[in-house]
Formats: sequence, C-alpha cells, structure tokens
Amino acid sequence: MALAEQVFNFLIPPVSKMGVGAVKQLGATAKFLGGTKVLLVTDKGLFDLGVANQIVELLKADGVESVVFSGAEPNPTDLNVRAGLKVYKENNCNMLVSLGGGSSHDCTKGIGVMANNEGDIRDFAGIDTFANPLPPFIAINTTAGTGSECTSFAVITNTDSHVKMIIASARITPTVAINDPVMMVGLPAALTAATGMDALTHAIEAYVAKLATPVTDALALAAIKLIVEWLPQAVGNGANLEARDKMAYAEYMAGAAFNNAGVGIVHAMAHQPGALFNKPHGVCNAILLPHGCDFNLIACPQKFADVAVAMGVNTTGLSVMEAAEKGIEAIRKLSKDVGIPAGLGDIGVKESDIPLLADNAIKDLCCFFNPRTISLDDLKRLYKEAM
Ligand SMILES: [Fe+2]
Repeated sequence: MALAEQVFNFLIPPVSKMGVGAVKQLGATAKFLGGTKVLLVTDKGLFDLGVANQIVELLKADGVESVVFSGAEPNPTDLNVRAGLKVYKENNCNMLVSLGGGSSHDCTKGIGVMANNEGDIRDFAGIDTFANPLPPFIAINTTAGTGSECTSFAVITNTDSHVKMIIASARITPTVAINDPVMMVGLPAALTAATGMDALTHAIEAYVAKLATPVTDALALAAIKLIVEWLPQAVGNGANLEARDKMAYAEYMAGAAFNNAGVGIVHAMAHQPGALFNKPHGVCNAILLPHGCDFNLIACPQKFADVAVAMGVNTTGLSVMEAAEKGIEAIRKLSKDVGIPAGLGDIGVKESDIPLLADNAIKDLCCFFNPRTISLDDLKRLYKEAM
C-alpha cells in the first residue's frame, strides 16, 4: 500500500527520572538547569500536608531558593494561572517546579507560557499559539496519573465559558519529569483508582487513535499490561511501593503514548462534566471508557482484540470481534474492582445536562484523533447510556 506523506513527531521530556529516590535529585537538577529562584506550584492539599515544604527544603539543601504558590485547583482555571503568574513575577522567579498531579502540572504550564509570552492565557488556546519557550520546568508527579508531567498539552478551564481550553505545543513539555513512587504512597485509594483509570484511558485511546505509530503502540500496550496487574494492588494497599512504582511507569508510558498518538471520544466527553461541574477527570474517563470503546469497536476491531490480550483475556478460539468485546468486559470489571462509580448519574450529572455536554464535546480537540467519525447524536446517545 502506498503511504500518503505524513510526518509523525515523538515528543517526551528531554530528561525523565524514575524510581525510588528520584526526587532527591531535584536540587541538583534545578541547579543544572540554571535555576536560582523557583516558583513551586502545587495544590492546597499537598501544601497542608507539608509535602510542598519538603520540596522547598530539598531545593534549599542545594542552595536553590523557592516561593510556593498553592492555588492550583482540580480542573485548573485561567484564574489559577493568572494568580500563579503574579507570584512568579513578584518574586523574580526564573524556574518552575510543579508538585502534584495533572492540575498542578497544567497550571504550571499555563504560568510558564504567560511568563515568557505577551498576552492572556485565553489567547494561547490551540496548537503552537506562542513563540517563546517556557522557563526551565521540573514536574514532580504525585499521582499515576494524568501523564501531564510528560505531555505537551495543558488543559485549562475558561471560567467564563466553562469550556476546557487545550494549549498544545512542544514548548510546553516539562524539561524534566520526576516519577518517584515514594511521592505517590500517600494518595488515597479513591484517587489512586481514578487516576489509574485515567492512565488506562490514555493507553487505550492512544492505541486506537488516528495518529498511533509502532512507537506509541508499544508504549500503550505495555502500559495496559502494567495497569491491569498493578492498579488493583496500588488501590488495595497504597503503601505497596512496588505497585506504586509499576503504576508510575505505566502512567508515564501511557502519557508518552497519548502525547503523540492523541486521545479520542472518551476524553472529549469526559472533559465536559469536568469543565461544567468540576467532576474529577479520572472518574469521568473511567465511567465513559467502556462506552467509548463500544462506539469505536467497528472502526478498528483488531486493535481492540489486541487490547483484550493486553488486559489478560484468553482469546484462544475467539473471533476478532468476540475477543474485542471480551476486552471491553475486562475494562468494566477492572473499573468495578477498583471502586469506580457505575454511571455519570452517580456523580451528580443529570439527563437534562446532556444537550450542553454533547454540544461542547463535539467541539473538543480530542474528537479529531478518534478512530471513528463522531456526530452530535452519537455523543448524546453515549452520554445517555453512561448515565
Ligand atoms: Fe486524561
């Protein structure tokens, strides 16, 4: 078959530090990157638990000063970004460190874009909308997870339109990603489950996405295998460091896969209850994942049969379609096992919300990468089925 001309980029952070003790290299890494005054961006929870202060001390031990901004909220907003930028400028910072999950990393990406480019965060929605690189940026991950520590996207909520803006650029990728499982043992079971299912959604959506390549396929399948084996154990016992470590690798690989292949209908739909009603991203994805897979099945049955194998399903003697369907059953079972609510209704979404959710989802950038063409009616039907 003759291939049409199309170039596939592969983007990940220039340096990624994995494993127990990785975070101890923070100060030396900050110095290596030339940072003298760090803005540490985190959320209120990690600040109140004293985790942010531990990071401040780690930096101080290597002679790097820092100031903390703890205003990154779940589903971070344009207001959060502007507030963080103010602290960055007032303190003459020259480096960014994010501490947390996707909310902290995405908020930091927004701050970094505004730090070095003229304009408001809302001006930068879209692909490659700004010219100047961000300040040096280290992302310390505490969830496994959004993959945001290794991606070239930031998702920021516009507080007027209640739509999630996607800012996409190679320039937004953190300079260094740190995935130290020790930083993840404190994550409560429900959040471990939700963020782990977000990672599974990244892997599966990337595997079937339009821009998938052999590189992203390898990462996605490896991530799925690890998540199926280790997510229940990380949920069952948060102190299980091996489970945390394996999940850190899984979410990183899933992040690297979707960063380059894209995600699809599940994320397009999950973004909307997040933006409109502040519902948790991972839970929305987990609820919507089997519905999105059912929808996409006819577009790429062999790929879903591969997912089934990665999920541990014995597909011997099954047709491609039977295997694919068993894989989706396995996703439903995993979701149930780790305690994800069954439907969107369980997290407070109402049937009367569906028209607005669907109207916004059809405009979401993620629809572009989905293997099956999506209509507004498809979205309305799928939201209804997921209630
Ligand atoms: Fe996600």
